[in-house]
Amino acid sequence: MSKRPRLLLSAPAYWANLWADPLEQGGIDLFVYGRDAFQPETIDYALSFRPPPGLLKSLPSLKAVFSLGAGVDGFLTNSDYPKHVPLVRFVDDTLSREMATYVVLHTLMFHRNQRALDDAQRKGIWLQSMLPRRTEETRVGILGMGEIGTLCAERLRDLGFAVSGWSRSRKNAEGIKSFAGDGELGSFLAQSDILVCLLPLTRETKAILNAKTFAQLPRGAFLINAARGGHQIERDIIAAIDSGQLAGAALDVFEAEPLPESSPLWNHPKITVTPHIAAISDPTASVHMVLDGIARFERGEPVPNVVDIERGY
Ligand SMILES: NC(=O)c1ccc[n+]([C@@H]2O[C@H](COP(=O)([O-])OP(=O)(O)OC[C@H]3O[C@@H](n4cnc5c(N)ncnc54)[C@H](OP(=O)(O)O)[C@@H]3O)[C@@H](O)[C@H]2O)c1
Repeated sequence: MSKRPRLLLSAPAYWANLWADPLEQGGIDLFVYGRDAFQPETIDYALSFRPPPGLLKSLPSLKAVFSLGAGVDGFLTNSDYPKHVPLVRFVDDTLSREMATYVVLHTLMFHRNQRALDDAQRKGIWLQSMLPRRTEETRVGILGMGEIGTLCAERLRDLGFAVSGWSRSRKNAEGIKSFAGDGELGSFLAQSDILVCLLPLTRETKAILNAKTFAQLPRGAFLINAARGGHQIERDIIAAIDSGQLAGAALDVFEAEPLPESSPLWNHPKITVTPHIAAISDPTASVHMVLDGIARFERGEPVPNVVDIERGY
């Protein structure tokens, strides 16, 4: 009888508890890092979100690594990733749909002036002067037109917004204007009343949400970042809001997470803070991805969603 593949799961306890049972029932031998004793040389596969430094390098027989999340910066910003080992990221319709609800919610909140109306209600003011605009008058620009960005763009287009996207390669989605490459970033920004970041965090995209970027947006633009905290310079966001260049921001991700108690973002009246929960990987879909991926690796078949390690996504 051939040996069952051995998978090492390294994740915060809350996640590990969700994933451990269904994985154990999938025909593999599971070891939970920090809970089970294991011999490093016997581990075939690893599953994690942000592996502890040195862990993956200490597993000499690794055949592949699976990411619990869509973003793989938690593996690749760590310079000790064993680059010869394939890295598979999590891609799932449910995750993209949940991300779209976050992006649509905050786009609508800004477009409909909802914060100002809530404030007026608390003060008992009948703020009829703040008339809503039509959706086609608000231009939404999406940084990153991948799995998630494309679905968000389609949902916003279907609501009537004027939507454009920026990516490395040119896209051809119906009714969505495509800007491609660094050369077109400036013209993309100049026509984005709402800027939504859905980029992967890579060498090229790190700190892209900075003062220079904000200065190229129309005055009074709104920022939504649901990608990674490493994309943003928080002091630049606050300065741009305080100067009126940005009207406000909805942020799900932060330079440091959890967001430190001392951060001025918590109490800024024009910033919405959410605790990195725009979308959470669905345990059932993740388990399926891992078990299916392992079965394919074992049979020597191609595996979907393998990351280009040099490119960083
Ligand atoms: N907050 C949360 O709860 C949460 C949940 C899930 C995911 N996320 C974040 O969302 C990110 C996006 O996920 P995804 O699945 O949509 O990623 P993806 O499918 O890999 O798409 C990435 C997109 O970014 C573009 N891109 C990458 N580098 C670029 C550059 N230097 N210049 C211009 N465009 C660039 C790519 O262009 P090409 O199409 O031309 O390659 C692609 O369109 C993840 O990496 C993760 O950080 C956050």
